[in-house]
Amino acid sequence: MNTLVNRHILLGVTGGIAAYKSAELVRALRQQGAELRVVMTEAASAFITPLTLQALSGHPVRTTLMDPQAEAGMGHIELARWADLVLVAPASADFMARLTAGMANDLLSTLCLATQAPIAMAPAMNVQMWQAAVTQENAERLRARAVQLWGPAEGEQACGEVGPGRMLEPQDLAQRCADFFSHGPLRGVKVLVTAGPTREAIDPVRYISNRSSGKMGYAVAQAAASAGAEVVLVSGPVNLPCPRGVERIAVESAEQMLAAVMAQRCDIFIASAAVADYRPAEAAQSKIKKSQDAMSLNLRRNLDILATVSGQSEPPFTVGFAAETDNLKEYALGKLAAKNLDMIAANWVGEAAGGGGFESDSNALTVFWPGGEKNLPSMDKQTLAQELITIIAERFSQHR
Ligand code: PMT
Repeated sequence: MNTLVNRHILLGVTGGIAAYKSAELVRALRQQGAELRVVMTEAASAFITPLTLQALSGHPVRTTLMDPQAEAGMGHIELARWADLVLVAPASADFMARLTAGMANDLLSTLCLATQAPIAMAPAMNVQMWQAAVTQENAERLRARAVQLWGPAEGEQACGEVGPGRMLEPQDLAQRCADFFSHGPLRGVKVLVTAGPTREAIDPVRYISNRSSGKMGYAVAQAAASAGAEVVLVSGPVNLPCPRGVERIAVESAEQMLAAVMAQRCDIFIASAAVADYRPAEAAQSKIKKSQDAMSLNLRRNLDILATVSGQSEPPFTVGFAAETDNLKEYALGKLAAKNLDMIAANWVGEAAGGGGFESDSNALTVFWPGGEKNLPSMDKQTLAQELITIIAERFSQHR
């Protein structure tokens, strides 16, 4: 299974004989679908050439901090932001010591300091060096800072000694990366999310749409991915970057959104998009000229994507949203029943939302399911989405 699809892994290679295994590690990570960038310390380049890892990773390998050409493109801060996980393998005793001390005296240590991504290290060194009190203290301090230490393994070492200090095998490390990303409650679950508005063409330059920014749906997609799910996001036109670890399919109209949704199979469907209920019966081929004082548009009802999904013979666990300006509970429960949903997340929109709902960075939801409900008070959309995903994961596991 390609469990690392769309995951951004920054592989740091430090100086040690185990660096020769980095070539196999790069292949193993790519086989699992990971997007890779490699950064090597100067000492690592003595054991394996940057060219080898460049050929295998498919991207230039960076070795120095003061590289004017690289800093003009994907600079070190960009690289630190890009990573979903920083894996240092092999991690030498020297590198562990520098990271513990918070040093930033080369590119890799600077990246580790600058990144907000989790850091994992695969220590590899001589057994005496690993067992040295100072290395053990460094290891403890790194663990206390939530740096994951994977290994070392025990066995025969390149120096001829036997004991702990071998780097874990590349396949084991690739598996650790996969496990790392899929430990959440939605591990192994495929989630399909719709987000944003749709645009219904009137003519080549005009359309009918709504105020959805996509923020709520994108936060839901990100929260599902963080919970370990494989996430596909079908998105209307919004001005947001694709959430990490999520595959995005961009659409414009409700018809396109329906087609993109029906082309996917999923375990959980979450419809947070504000889909236009109507479209112009016929979009004009040329720009409509303003010849009359008044004009009317003939509108045709769009198919309900959510109801189409929940009406399948074997529907996924189906979660709708309800955006209401009045009678929130009554209308939401009506949609829950009419569309035969497993759950509905209701929110106020317009003036009733008091600053939440459409476009804003925060929102509040009341979640209903047959026989139960939970109120999620106003908070930022990212945290709200995490709370919603927790409820969905609980109900989904009971449903299963
Ligand atoms: O994008 P933001 O600016 O962050 O705003 C978030 C939001 C307010 C858009 C979001 O929280 C929200 O409420 N989304 C649903 C908006 C909506 O269309 O609600 P509705 O009550 O009209 O529709 C009910 C459900 O049917 C929704 O799950 C909707 O996706 C779905 N639907 C509606 C019509 C249609 N043709 N197909 C559908 O699938």
